[in-house]
Formats: sequence, structure tokens, C-alpha cells
Amino acid sequence: MDTVTSVQDLRGKVLSWRQKGLSIGLVPTMGNLHSGHLSLVNHAKIKADKVVVSIFVNPLQFDDKTDLYDYPRTLEVDLKKLSSVGCDLVFTPNLDTMYPNGLREQSKVTVPVIGEILCGHHRSGHFEGVATVVSKLFNMVLPDTAVFGEKDYQQLLLIKKLTQDLNMSIEIIGGKTYREPSGLAMSSRNKYLSSSERILAAEVYNNLEIVKLQLCQGEQDYTQLCLQAEQVLKRRGFAPEYVEICNETNLMPANHQDKGLRIMVAAKLGQIRLIDNIACHLD
Ligand code: PAJ
Repeated sequence: MDTVTSVQDLRGKVLSWRQKGLSIGLVPTMGNLHSGHLSLVNHAKIKADKVVVSIFVNPLQFDDKTDLYDYPRTLEVDLKKLSSVGCDLVFTPNLDTMYPNGLREQSKVTVPVIGEILCGHHRSGHFEGVATVVSKLFNMVLPDTAVFGEKDYQQLLLIKKLTQDLNMSIEIIGGKTYREPSGLAMSSRNKYLSSSERILAAEVYNNLEIVKLQLCQGEQDYTQLCLQAEQVLKRRGFAPEYVEICNETNLMPANHQDKGLRIMVAAKLGQIRLIDNIACHLD
């Protein structure tokens, strides 16, 4: 496995594969890798001959500067993990490589509507930062496929829309959410939870399952279901931002004609913001 830090070296490596007729898969990450990230690499390996993983903690997508400052950086361990799953190339650009003219002068990519709701509503500028960095990574690597986790379901749909809107011929693939045995979705931020908070954090997923069960049992009052779920979270000590039952293709509030649903949640536990979602298909 090779590691490159410059766009020139990255392009050189990718070009040598292209000249051999090999296909390229990309998995963008911010590092501090866990089994969820590694599952995306495995997924990409099935789809493409060569897999590139990028590791870059992107300041443009952090609305909270403390969160950016505290974000865990564990490059040595990450490289070992990537090597063990057969990643071919790791791209670890620094800030100057990604944003040579600084953040303010960087042209931005905005994805309207889907970028403005749910997490987009609560984290100002977040999805513009994500769309911008992912567009840049796509232009640097020019992959055939790119894999994103369903853990960040809104991000996954936003990237799909971005590639359609900007005519990028990259296939966007979703990988399933990896969870702790408790049900808690794996996340780089989980390490900041105390041991008691970690146990409690599984309630976010449990709550989603309860909403899903009620939907499957025919409950029609979606607003009430979401309100109840928020109240349960509040009682347990969370500060919920939203619980919403959405249409799974555009994340608009679901109506009773919609069969493919996604139940979306974001809640803070202490300083840590947790997000999760599950699918619910009604018949
Ligand atoms: P990061 O949080 O590092 O996540 C990288 C990828 O791993 C994303 O596609 C995310 O959805 C996926 N992922 C995270 N936790 C997962 C889990 N428990 N199971 C499966 N996949 C999981 O998401 C980002 O970085 C950034 O926004 C990025 C796309 C790299 C742009 O900066």
C-alpha cells in the first residue's frame, strides 16, 4: 500500500492504473478509522480493481471549531488498518494541498434543499463543506465508483444528487451502518463518550427501532410518533435536535403514500452529537 500527500503523486499513481485498464474506487474519510470505514473499503474492493482512501479532516465542514480541534487524528494506526484490508493507495493531503488559496477564497459547492434540511438546518455550512471537499476529491482521483456510509444517510443522498446535478460519471454506492453490539452506530466521536454515556447512547438506535415497530404496526400519526421519540430521548438525558420520518429518496417529511421510509435522528449527549437512521419499508 502506498501513501501520497500531493495531488501530482496521486494523479500519477491513478494514471498508471488507468493505462493498464484498471477501474478505481474511492472511499473518502476523515480518519480515526473503525470497522464501519473498513467495511466501505471492502465494499469498494468488490466494485473496483484499485481502491484509494483519502484521509483529510476537512475544516470547511465543521461549524463547531472545538469539534474540529478535538477531532481524533490517528494516522499511524489508520494506515495499519487500511493495509490490513488491502487498500491500494492512501491520500493524506494537508490543508494547503486541499485549499491552497485558503478557505475563504475557495469556490464552494452548494446542494440546495437536501443540504438545507435536518443536519443541514442544524449545522450551518456543514453540507457546503462536505460537497466542496468531496467534489475536489472526485476531481483529483476521477474514480469510477465512490463508497459512502448509510450512517450519514443525508450525506450519501446529497453526494448522489451532487454527482447527478454536475454530470459527474461516478457511481455512488451506499454501505450499511456498522454498529456496536449494543446497537450504537460506530463513529469516530464515540470515544469521547464516558462509559456510562456510551451505554446510554444505544438508546438513540433503540428509539429508532421502536418508531419503526410502531410504523409497521400501522401507526399513522407520524408527527406524534416523532414527538414521543424526542420526549423519550429528553427524559433519558439527551438534547434531541430532530426525529423525523422521511421519504427515503429525498428526505422530505413522509406522507401516507410513501412506502420507502427513513427514520432520521440527531441528538446531543453532553457535548457529543450523535446521528443515526434506519430504513423502514411499509407494504
Ligand atoms: P467520516 O466521518 O470519516 O466518514 C467516512 C465515511 O465512513 C462516510 O461515508 C461515513 O458515512 C462512513 N461511516 C462512518 N461511520 C460508519 C459506520 N458506523 N458504518 C458504516 N459507514 C460509516 O463522512 C465523512 O467522514 C466526511 O464528511 C467526508 C465524506 C470524508 C468528507 O469530508
